[in-house]
Amino acid sequence: MNPRRWLPSFGTNDSLQPVLWDEASAGAAAGELMRRYHECGYALFVTKSGDSESVITSVSRKLGLGETYIPAQYANYPNGSFLVSGFNKVEATAESSHRGFSSADAQELHSDGTLEPVGRVATSILFCVYPAAEGGETRIFDSVDAFERVVSVSPELRHSLLDANALSRRDVGRTEATVVGPVFSFTADGALHSRFSMDNTSEWEKGFAKVKDLRRAYDALLCLTRQPDFGTSVTLRSGWGIVLANSKVSHARTSFRNDPQSPPRLLLRGLFLRRAEREPRRL
Ligand SMILES: [Fe+2]
Repeated sequence: MNPRRWLPSFGTNDSLQPVLWDEASAGAAAGELMRRYHECGYALFVTKSGDSESVITSVSRKLGLGETYIPAQYANYPNGSFLVSGFNKVEATAESSHRGFSSADAQELHSDGTLEPVGRVATSILFCVYPAAEGGETRIFDSVDAFERVVSVSPELRHSLLDANALSRRDVGRTEATVVGPVFSFTADGALHSRFSMDNTSEWEKGFAKVKDLRRAYDALLCLTRQPDFGTSVTLRSGWGIVLANSKVSHARTSFRNDPQSPPRLLLRGLFLRRAEREPRRL
């Protein structure tokens, strides 16, 4: 059994209280966000003032995440969904066909970076400008810890989840490009990364046909997605953001409903290739 355990702090009341982010206390706030990011795989923050893009940029710089990353298939994304800052708008609109960004439907567990190699998009930030009138809850699943649980109970399943033919992911509704790769992968220095996904971009059946024991491993992971110890949920309010260790945890969203009398739900999303550092940056 791997000695690292994220469970003690995963989804505790403490980790669901957002860290107050303002420029005056950004150093201390960044330290707490870093602690939560590395211990829990996610870290919530709240800001009382400031332009949304500036706040996300401030948080990302303080955490050492580097520049925002725009995957190649979005380089010419229509309808102004990507802002100059590199963040993209997540909102339910009639114009766009992207089923995750532009729909009010539920989105199942996934790792951001549909066509990216496992572990490449290390971090995602979601920032809520306007919440939905109802629904739109963000759910987080500790995929890496789930892998460790599965292989500790059934070591023979380990190879199926690391197999290069295990999981296909498709750029649904746009290029339809597909990338096949492992569900989990170890780096040269032994760090475990995940692209565990079960949303509409994910195709498991081909993997089931090719990879011995993959269906059993999938079923075991699916079972853990239903256990509270491996996940938590939060509904982002206006001014709340969440930093996700995207290569460690998967996330999902429940369906939502907008109120015609209020601004429609609007989130900004930023992708980053770097993980949060351990110590705040002096900027
Ligand atoms: Fe996502």
